Amino acid sequence: MEIDVLTLFPEWFSWFTGQRHVANVLGAGHRLRAVSYRDHTPLSGRQVDDTPFGGGPGMVLRVDVVDAALRALYGRDPLELHGERRIVALSPAARVLDDALVSELAEERALTLLCGRYEGFDERVVEHLATDALSIGRYVLAGGELAAMVVCDAVLRKLPGALGDRQSALEESFSPALGGAPEYPHYTRPASYRGWEVPSVLLSGHHEQIRSWRAEQSARRGAREGEHEGDRGEGGSLP
Ligand code: ADE
Repeated sequence: MEIDVLTLFPEWFSWFTGQRHVANVLGAGHRLRAVSYRDHTPLSGRQVDDTPFGGGPGMVLRVDVVDAALRALYGRDPLELHGERRIVALSPAARVLDDALVSELAEERALTLLCGRYEGFDERVVEHLATDALSIGRYVLAGGELAAMVVCDAVLRKLPGALGDRQSALEESFSPALGGAPEYPHYTRPASYRGWEVPSVLLSGHHEQIRSWRAEQSARRGAREGEHEGDRGEGGSLP
């Protein structure tokens, strides 16, 4: 897979790509490139943003700047790229990333992630230049860079060459193997610590009982998660 990240802070990604699990995937033939909007802006003084029409605080990343950066990178009108690569705008106001979407993105040959800053993008970036918009959660970050790293981390670990033990990617939280539920709890040595005991079934050596205990724990966590969604008012009963 080939991932390009457009950002005002490409240097942040040197740290990210230097982390062992990321470096391992990149070493297995995948690519991650961080590119600065400022290096391609058509405006003078490396300008990339502007004040919002209609007034209000903050600055907005300009549509012509994002368009120019995409053209410089791919040598074509970005609209012509839409059948070939997903161009994903990172925005707190978009569809929230989940495991199913991560798996879908991991199937792509090429991705472009657009990081916003300040008050975000001119909406025409999301409407016209991007093919998708996604949020990593219902809170606002200072910009899309950390969100882009979250997306890259989640996507890259699904690719061949990412994990030593492929089984751990198949049967992990929110995977189809667990019916979309969170993963069951794990324990390791010592079996007893400060009076905190490891559930005895895990020490029993009965594989069938262990399997069914894990499935039950996973389902229980899933049910608890559903209750928290209720707390947030998503189909729940709180005002
Ligand atoms: N940019 C700022 N906040 C964000 C969020 N929660 N998800 C994605 N991009 C963002």
